[in-house]
Parts: sequence; C-alpha cells; structure tokens
Amino acid sequence: MAYSLGDILLDATTLQKRIGELAAEIDAAYPDTPQPLVLLTILKGSIFFSTDLSRALRNNVEFEFIAVRSYGGGTTSSGSVELVKDVSMQLRDRDVLMVEDIIDTGNTTSYLYDHIARHEPRSLRLATLLNKPDRRERDVRIDFCGFTIPNEFVVGFGLDMAGVYRNLPDIRLVQDDGVPTEQGANAIASS
Ligand code: IMP
Ligand code: MG
Repeated sequence: MAYSLGDILLDATTLQKRIGELAAEIDAAYPDTPQPLVLLTILKGSIFFSTDLSRALRNNVEFEFIAVRSYGGGTTSSGSVELVKDVSMQLRDRDVLMVEDIIDTGNTTSYLYDHIARHEPRSLRLATLLNKPDRRERDVRIDFCGFTIPNEFVVGFGLDMAGVYRNLPDIRLVQDDGVPTEQGANAIASS
C-alpha cells in the first residue's frame, strides 16, 4: 500500500527544548534519592528520548532496559502486550522512572506498571515524550509529558513504522496507512 512521510509535527529544536524543560521538572521531583534514579527505557522507541533526557538531567542516573511489543507491522495496536526482554537489574527499593516514547491506548504502559510494581521499587513514575489521549483504552498515570498530540500516526525520533524511520531527527506525520515498500523506506531513510 502506498504511503509517504507527511509534515513535520515537532522539529528537532522544539523536541530538545521541551526535553530540557522535562529534565528540570524531573530533577525537581527527585530532590533526594538514596541511590541514582533508574531510567527504565522502553525499547526500542524511547532510546533517543531517554538518552537526550539523561544528558539534560543533573541527577545521577542508571540505565535499565525492557522491551515489549504491542504493534504488529502496521499502525494499529494489537491490544495485547508481549514481553520481549525483561529487566535484569534489581529494582527493589529503587526510584524507577519509566521512559516511554508515546502513550496511545495505554495498554503497554498499564502492563508495564503492573510488571515493574512487582519488583517493589521505592517509587515508580512515568515520563513520556508524546501522549495521544484520543485512543486511550486504559487510564494510566503520566507524571511527566512532553507533548499531547492529535490522533495521528507519527514517526521519527525513535518512533517507527514497521521498523523504519526511528532515526529521523524530527517527529513527522505519516500520510497513508500501510506497510512501507522497501524502495520507499530506503529512499526516505537515506534522504
Ligand atoms: P499503546 O500500548 O497503544 O499505548 O502503544 C504504545 C506503543 O505503540 C508505543 O510505545 C509505540 O511503540 C507504539 N505507537 C503508538 N502510537 C504510535 C505512533 O503514532 N507512531 C509510532 N508508534 C506508535
Ligand atoms: Mg513501536
């Protein structure tokens, strides 16, 4: 099916400015942690947000990673969440900040709240770069939110469509639904 990249929704400068503001909010929210804050990065989409956020923070952090999958190859959530890679570090009594790229239906985040709470962290909060509230199916508490966006499929800055476009520096709209052709994906990724 044909598709093309649409307009830029959030450009790189806007993203970095907001990430700096979020970092200040997060630093203020953790004035006194006995151990470094754990940035629990949700793979793969949150990698750019998480690394940029970490470099804007003044607090010490440790990184941990978890990978889940909720989408197939397309642009609509399958509804069920699959754990692809679990955490390996001890989270008990730690301050854990889950770092998400986007909250859409809320299914992934809801699953992660339950899953990580079982480790009995000292605190568990959530930072998301994007919030797409229109399609919410489960109520999830968002402690730090970059941008609330309309119900559009977006790519770039970590967000993918069928695996590609994560490395785009801006967040862009996708005009048509469908699986990218190899030619289309390569043409845009290298442009
Ligand atoms: P949820 O479980 O429906 O909240 O979806 C969360 C996950 O779906 C995110 O971590 C993304 O991987 C993916 N997702 C949701 N909306 C978009 C989008 O607009 N572009 C790319 N990925 C998205
Ligand atoms: Mg994804």
